[in-house]
Amino acid sequence: MPSKAVYLETFGCQMNELDSELVSGQLRALGYRFVAQPEQADVLLYNTCSVREHAEQKVWSRLGIDRLRKAERPDLVVGVLGCMAERDGEDLIRRMPQVDILCGPGELDKLPALLDNAVRTRASLLADEPGASPPLSSASNVPPPLPPSARQVALQGSTSRRSATLSAAQDTLELLDLSRSVSPESHGRTRSAYVRITRGCNKFCTYCVVPFTRGAEVHRPPDHIVDECKRLADSGVVEVTLLGQTVNHYRFEHGSVVTVGGVTQPQKGRTYKGAHNRDAFAGERVTTFADLLRRIHDEAPAIERLRFVTSYPRDFGDDVLEVIRDHPRICRYLHVPAQTGSDRLLRAMNRGYTVGEYLEFLDRARAHLHQPEIDRPLTVAGDIIVGFPSETEEDHAATAELLRRARYKNCFIFKYSARPGTVAFEKLPDDVPEHVKRRRNGELLALQQEISAEVGREFVGRTARVFVEGFSRLEHRRRRPVGAARVNGDALHSVGGGGGGVVGLTVMGKLSNGSLASHTPSACEMPPDGPLPEEGRGEPVDAEGAIASSGERGSVQLSARTEGDLIVHIDLPGGDDARAESLIGRVITVRLTDSRAMSLVGTLV
Ligand code: SAH
Ligand code: SF4
Ligand code: F3S
Repeated sequence: MPSKAVYLETFGCQMNELDSELVSGQLRALGYRFVAQPEQADVLLYNTCSVREHAEQKVWSRLGIDRLRKAERPDLVVGVLGCMAERDGEDLIRRMPQVDILCGPGELDKLPALLDNAVRTRASLLADEPGASPPLSSASNVPPPLPPSARQVALQGSTSRRSATLSAAQDTLELLDLSRSVSPESHGRTRSAYVRITRGCNKFCTYCVVPFTRGAEVHRPPDHIVDECKRLADSGVVEVTLLGQTVNHYRFEHGSVVTVGGVTQPQKGRTYKGAHNRDAFAGERVTTFADLLRRIHDEAPAIERLRFVTSYPRDFGDDVLEVIRDHPRICRYLHVPAQTGSDRLLRAMNRGYTVGEYLEFLDRARAHLHQPEIDRPLTVAGDIIVGFPSETEEDHAATAELLRRARYKNCFIFKYSARPGTVAFEKLPDDVPEHVKRRRNGELLALQQEISAEVGREFVGRTARVFVEGFSRLEHRRRRPVGAARVNGDALHSVGGGGGGVVGLTVMGKLSNGSLASHTPSACEMPPDGPLPEEGRGEPVDAEGAIASSGERGSVQLSARTEGDLIVHIDLPGGDDARAESLIGRVITVRLTDSRAMSLVGTLV
């Protein structure tokens, strides 16, 4: 079969970005080509997010366009991957029968086979159907949907949510991570990579779909993780971000499972009582999150930056804080969402901590990492949900107070979105009116903006090691020929803010939430253009617009990040492109000379 052209677009969090990278590596190895525009593709794949309704709407609108495309190209194959495929399942097909492939995030190892089948099935159906060619031309003439038997579906099914034991035993998904093709080209000059350490989530916060879409928590064997980091380092990667929904809960019980041919299985003759049963194998070795960080730091010394997201505020042991303190290449940065400042709502969300406990944790973390002699303070980012069912003005004021106390360097603020299947959807009426959610969202954003600016100013005058990610957005804009369309830098499109550097050149179209913004959110859903006030994340547009006036003519502007995830813009005088290029993907020292609304200004030292 001639090589098929694939267009893959990614929505959602870093997990999805990593999944897209792994899946595209596998498909490339099988001879598929990746293209930058859907019009050039034989296969359209969407790796989707379900965390808020808005995320799904974007995919629905893509699928609506594809329905028309299929009228012109009956052989086109359309696949929905990821969390929305898992959550919507057969409903998605009912609503959009032109979809050929549905593949949940827990089944992505099967995608090459599903895709091959779908391509062949489409081709053979068209050969059998003289009426299907020449191409049909109107929307009302769309080609017939596939018969159910011909559709390619791989979902875990939320009703058969696997237990931790079973999931470890059947974790063929580990093969997907193990299949990662790592080469100097694969991470380009961005030299930054995600590494998954834990899949799934067991927390069941009442508003959240992730435990249903990603399944039970499964911890990857530490040897696999360390080997992956070493391979990435050998290929030139200098920054690794470890991924897990509750990343600090990583805990691998040796002996409970064995790995055979890359597949993790229960050890013969043993009864594995689950990852969180600490008595399961008393006396046997356990690798904790602190152990894992230490191992990666020590065994992959070429990784100059080791970071991790997203942390859960509960059970965050001093051992982890001590490892961060004592290992210089581990970033002093925590993304540790609080979700609300109201104890009543924390209970309703099933978060398992109080505001007091949360703030105590931040104090403890800051105290552990407060070492004036090395001047590397901890920075913290958060997530907040506004308008959770029954949220009162008093709750809202408590959240504002939490922001003041927590002093995040940035905080992602999301309007509550009721998700079918969650406890909140079933039991708690979505009773905060949209205009109230919007107002509260705006108030918290404005407050956070002030706090972010203050936190930014505290860094002025310091020197810092920064990781140079690429040209700034302003620089990209300056270089774009007048009237040229804005395009993503790679054939793998990423809609969202999670580390665009992983899959290609700098991803254009990241947006700001109005603060010193992170490029590594835990979940996001941004359009490539135009801000979404409450949900935009990533490198700020306006900040750079503001800086445009300071960027001298003939200078080159680079965008970098501190270990605390603060964005730094560096103007190289004289327009020395070669010099600028040579700095991309490196960790360098700068003096922070100024702070803007959403970024810092740095000069080389
Ligand atoms: N595992 C991470 C977050 C994963 S989802 C954690 O627990 O911190 C990322 C963020 O999306 C969450 O922190 C939450 O703020 C937001 N979120 C999740 N479900 C949501 C919903 N139904 N409505 C609005 N925001 C939601
Ligand atoms: Fe898990 Fe985070 Fe969702 Fe809670 S918010 S259920 S911890 S993914
Ligand atoms: Fe899934 Fe990540 Fe979205 S886990 S629901 S893609 S936030």
